[in-house]
Amino acid sequence: MKIIEVANYEEMSKAAAEIIIKTIHDNPKTVLGLATGGTPKGLYKELIHDYQEHKTDYSEMTSFNLDEYIGLSPDHPNSYYSYMNEVFFNYVNIKKENIHIPSGTNPSLEEECRNYEQTINNKGGIDIQILGIGENGHIGFNEPGTAFDTKTQVVQLAEMTREANSRYFNSLEDVPTKAITMGISTIMNAKQLILLVSGEKKAHALHQLLHSAVMESFPASILQTHKNVTIIADQDALRCS
Ligand code: GLP
Repeated sequence: MKIIEVANYEEMSKAAAEIIIKTIHDNPKTVLGLATGGTPKGLYKELIHDYQEHKTDYSEMTSFNLDEYIGLSPDHPNSYYSYMNEVFFNYVNIKKENIHIPSGTNPSLEEECRNYEQTINNKGGIDIQILGIGENGHIGFNEPGTAFDTKTQVVQLAEMTREANSRYFNSLEDVPTKAITMGISTIMNAKQLILLVSGEKKAHALHQLLHSAVMESFPASILQTHKNVTIIADQDALRCS
């Protein structure tokens, strides 16, 4: 694992943006795996800024998001579909037909999972996947205990995750209890992984990821076994490591 230590959140976001921008310049048809949550917001801001200045071209690239809440339609203000439009897609020239976010309202979620996995494979797999980490070590929405061989699947959210994400909702009760997420093996199949970690709150999780054994009770520990993973972490996040 390559670790890039940066001073703060802004530097983390800039370092990640540089990698993405270079990748897209080198290969405009890049298949990019995207993440949501608070952590990658700065990255998207940097990409928008670069787009406005240098017109980096997103018209040929394809995106796949990690996850979506079950029960929230794409136009729901708390859906990850809305999030992605608001923080990134609305500001660059990515084509709508090249955007993929799992549907949390498909009446057949089983079929949705199968199709999502199939679509990723049909596009030749993910070239570079952005990841954040939950305080309990989740990646995507794969909570502790998730089998490492899982593909895109429906999962029950841990209470801790619902509480952490309730800051975006009116109340904890409004936070869905389930989500659809790329599985651990879907994530691990990406050719390159970039994990962003910022802030003291994530210091314990990052320490565990770097030093614990590889075990399903701490999903992010699997990243130790990936051939091409870059962790971009700020000083607060690295303080126990
Ligand atoms: C969320 C997302 C993850 C994200 C993580 C951390 O629940 N499903 O993809 O990486 O939790 O979120 P944050 O960046 O807001 O701390």
